[in-house]
Amino acid sequence: MTKPILAPGETQEQLDAFEARIQRGEKIEANDWMPAEYRRQLIRMISQHAHSEVVGMLPEGAWITRAPSLKRKTILIAKVQDEAGHGQYLYHAAETLGISREEMVDALLSGKAKYSSIFNYPTLTWADIGMIGWLVDGAAIKNQTMLAGCSYGPYSRAMVRICSEETFHHKQGKEMIVMYAQGTPEQRAMAQDALNRWWWPAMMMLGPHDADSPNSGVLTRWGVKLKSNDEVRQEFINEHVPELLEAGLTIPDPDLYQDENGDWKHGPINWDEFWSVVKGHGQMNRQRLEARNAAHDEGAWVREALEAYMNRTPAQAAD
Ligand SMILES: [Fe+2]
Ligand SMILES: [Fe+2]
Repeated sequence: MTKPILAPGETQEQLDAFEARIQRGEKIEANDWMPAEYRRQLIRMISQHAHSEVVGMLPEGAWITRAPSLKRKTILIAKVQDEAGHGQYLYHAAETLGISREEMVDALLSGKAKYSSIFNYPTLTWADIGMIGWLVDGAAIKNQTMLAGCSYGPYSRAMVRICSEETFHHKQGKEMIVMYAQGTPEQRAMAQDALNRWWWPAMMMLGPHDADSPNSGVLTRWGVKLKSNDEVRQEFINEHVPELLEAGLTIPDPDLYQDENGDWKHGPINWDEFWSVVKGHGQMNRQRLEARNAAHDEGAWVREALEAYMNRTPAQAAD
């Protein structure tokens, strides 16, 4: 496991005491001593996670006006709103580490910050909304359940709240796809097409193989990551493959098989595609950033109004 390097001013005693706390399963809180590298890694992870929740609203938000029934529309509105709330909890958790909201938002809007690769794929049909709930929220829950046990208190507590809401997202997606998979030939074809397009991106969103995951060592040592990317991916596949097959769908992986331990084993993942999307060359990277920038600009009056309200004089406040 990667041995952490001390930053200037940090002592071995401080690091030992910090690591002993993590070993005992204690949560690290915002005002506790922590290595600069722990702070840096957490800011990176939590802000990326917050950005993913916020950008994650875009592919699904695009279908709110086109939902096929009032019931589906209200479910989708509630889900998209939940994702905004998740972004909010996570930005708050990152702020406890000393980064400002403005810095994080600027990094997102300028294209400097990363967010989950999955949201750079387009939502082409209504079935994509169900498939995202089932697979993307399903994969996110596996990752987030792990993070609910992480060593940093504010991140861990945000995850507990988020996971309870994600469970509903997952259920509504599964319910929708199972229904279409047993519906008319058109509905079945639409569900299968959505699976064909979302299966591999969902597998990729759990991150590179352990050997190619540069930050994993120190994050594991400090109790931020309690499982490796491949372990989380295995949990995801083991849960979802039998359910997708039971729904009558075909998983677009000719090499998929179940081994003697009951684990489902997947074929090779196209990591070139993953890295290309991460580096900004996905189908929707440019549109997502444009949409976020437009939303930010259109919301300027709200921020100005809030600021004016905060800066009101005592006489204005008494009015
Ligand atoms: Fe979420
Ligand atoms: Fe979600």
